[in-house]
Amino acid sequence: MRTDTAARHVACIMDGNGRWAQQRGLPRTLGHKAAESAIDAVIKAALEEEVAWLTLFAFSTENWSRPQEEVSSLMDIGYQFLRNKVHEWHRAGIRFRCLGEPSSRISDGLRQELQYAQQLTQDNDKMTLTVAVNHGGRSEIVRAARNLIEEQVPAEEVTEESFGQHLPKPDMPDVDLVIRTSGEHRLSNFALWRCAYAEFAFPEVLWPDFRAEHFRQALALYAQRQRRFGGVTGSIPQPRSPQPQSPDGLVASLPCLSNVLSLPGGIATRLGGHLLTGLYDTARYAKAQLETRPTARL
Ligand code: IPE
Ligand code: IPE
Ligand code: MG
Repeated sequence: MRTDTAARHVACIMDGNGRWAQQRGLPRTLGHKAAESAIDAVIKAALEEEVAWLTLFAFSTENWSRPQEEVSSLMDIGYQFLRNKVHEWHRAGIRFRCLGEPSSRISDGLRQELQYAQQLTQDNDKMTLTVAVNHGGRSEIVRAARNLIEEQVPAEEVTEESFGQHLPKPDMPDVDLVIRTSGEHRLSNFALWRCAYAEFAFPEVLWPDFRAEHFRQALALYAQRQRRFGGVTGSIPQPRSPQPQSPDGLVASLPCLSNVLSLPGGIATRLGGHLLTGLYDTARYAKAQLETRPTARL
C-alpha cells in the first residue's frame, strides 16, 4: 500500500551473479541465468507494493571490458528472458523501457526485442520497468550536454531543470532508493544525475538469491529514513526504539502530545517518552520512600 513515506522510484544494481556461480563451482554465465528468478521476484513485489518506477541495472558501459564470451552470453540470456517475459509483463500493465546508449555492439536479437517490448507496452500505466543496458551515468550527462549544444541553447538558459530535460528519458523521476546486492557499496556509474539524493540499501545477498522479502525490507528501511535535501525539516519518522514501559508493563501512548505542544509527531513522542520515564522514576522513588518510613511520621 502506498503511503507518504513510500519510494516512488526504486533502482536495483543487480550485482553478485558471478560470485553466486563461483561459490557453486559453476561458470559465471550460470549466475547470470540464475538472476532471472530474482528479477521475476522483484518485479512481482514492486507491483504488489505499488512502486511506480522500477529500474534494473543490467549492463553498464564498463561491462564491455568483460571477456567476450561472458558479454555474448549476457546478451543471449537477456534476449531469451525478455522474449519469454514481455507478454506476461504487458498483461500485468507494465510499461517497459530501456535506458542506455544505443550501440551496434548490443546483439541484433536483443536490440529488436528491446524495441518490440517498448512499442508493445508503451501505453501501460501500472508500473514503468526500466532496464538499463549499455548505461553509464557519465555518458548520460555527456549526452545531455551534447543535446543542449546541438540545440544552441544559450548558456544562461542552462539550468538544472533544462539540463535534466535533456537527459535520456527526461520524464523519469529522480531515484528515491538504490538497492545494491552483494556487499558492494558503490554506484558503479549508475544514473549519477538522478541519484543525487537517493537513499541506499545494501542487502547482504548475491543478486540471484534476492527475493521479495529483501525488497520489502529495503522499502521498510527507506520508509524510516529522514530525507532532508539539505534542509533541517522534513518528515521525522517514529522512533525505532520501543516505547518506554511503565512499571506495570503498560506501553506509554501519547497520541495528542504533538498537538498540545505544537511539535512534530516524532519529537513529541520521544519527548513524551522521556517525560513519562521521569514520572515513573519519581513514582517509584516516592513509593520506596513511603514503604521505608513509618506511617506515623508521614
Ligand atoms: C552483475 O553480476 C551482472 C552484471 C554486471 C552484468 P556480476 O557479474 O558483476 O557478479 P560479480 O560481481 O562478478 O559477482
Ligand atoms: C555494476 O556491477 C553494473 C551492473 C550491475 C549492471 P559491476 O559488477 O559491473 O560493478 P563493479 O565493476 O564491481 O563496480
Ligand atoms: Mg559485479
